[in-house]
Amino acid sequence: MNYADWSQWYDLFYSTESSEEVDFYVEEAITANGPVLEIGVGTGRIAIPVAQRGIEVFGVDASLEMLSVAEAKASDASPLTGSLTLTQADMRTLQLARTDFSLVTIPARTLLLGTTPEDQMDTLCSAARHLRPGGKLVFNVFNPTPDLVFDDSAEPVLIGDVADPDSGKTFQLSAINRFDAESQINEATQIVEEINADGTTSVVARLPVTLRYLFPHEIFAMLEETNLQVEAVYGWFDRSPFDEECDEIIFVASRPA
Ligand SMILES: C[S@@+](CC[C@H](N)C(=O)[O-])C[C@H]1O[C@@H](n2cnc3c(N)ncnc32)[C@H](O)[C@@H]1O
Repeated sequence: MNYADWSQWYDLFYSTESSEEVDFYVEEAITANGPVLEIGVGTGRIAIPVAQRGIEVFGVDASLEMLSVAEAKASDASPLTGSLTLTQADMRTLQLARTDFSLVTIPARTLLLGTTPEDQMDTLCSAARHLRPGGKLVFNVFNPTPDLVFDDSAEPVLIGDVADPDSGKTFQLSAINRFDAESQINEATQIVEEINADGTTSVVARLPVTLRYLFPHEIFAMLEETNLQVEAVYGWFDRSPFDEECDEIIFVASRPA
């Protein structure tokens, strides 16, 4: 996937969401009381609010374009009471000089951007080897409910209309999903349409996203293989318990002390 195309639209897509995910990861970082590593840090949507709470944050991402958006936003948010160090790196082969993180996070379903079982396992291993003994790995992915993954309508799903404060324009955001049950791959396209003064719309961006979804039992098995102990599984960012109808799965796992 080319996140170069994504970097100018990413925050606009997330502006349609509540702040619950960000608040959840900020709480986890405050509880961890130590350095935090965010894998797939993107535009700093979560890392910057964490660094604003006096925490030392390291963010890695494969995309220089996403990192440069994060850099610019962090500089606008300065002075941070904590710190934010941004590095270009691949989450599958990550090898940072420090491996004493109290908390490693993989927010926003980024684990699923590894599109093979090996990529996903390598990403979890990267996370595990950067944790101090007793440190926690926290990540979220969507729950592949039958309603979602067997919906082969190929109809665009409306995400919402958003006003872009920078350009003053209003955009309609939608997505087309193409799930394949055999490979567990979704070849999705996120679509940005500008809403013109006369109410018509013009497509201004088509953003591809390929991901491989995971079932909860697969994640339990992968965490066991990574020698991480599952501490909690939530069904939403308010820490409500997971059940099979939940939209999201949030894992909290720890490296044995
Ligand atoms: C869904 S965004 C999440 C951004 C941020 N964590 C957030 O919550 O807003 C996924 C990010 O993962 C990055 N990414 C995708 N594949 C990657 C890889 N193999 N290694 C490192 N980063 C990767 C993308 O560039 C993108 O910035």
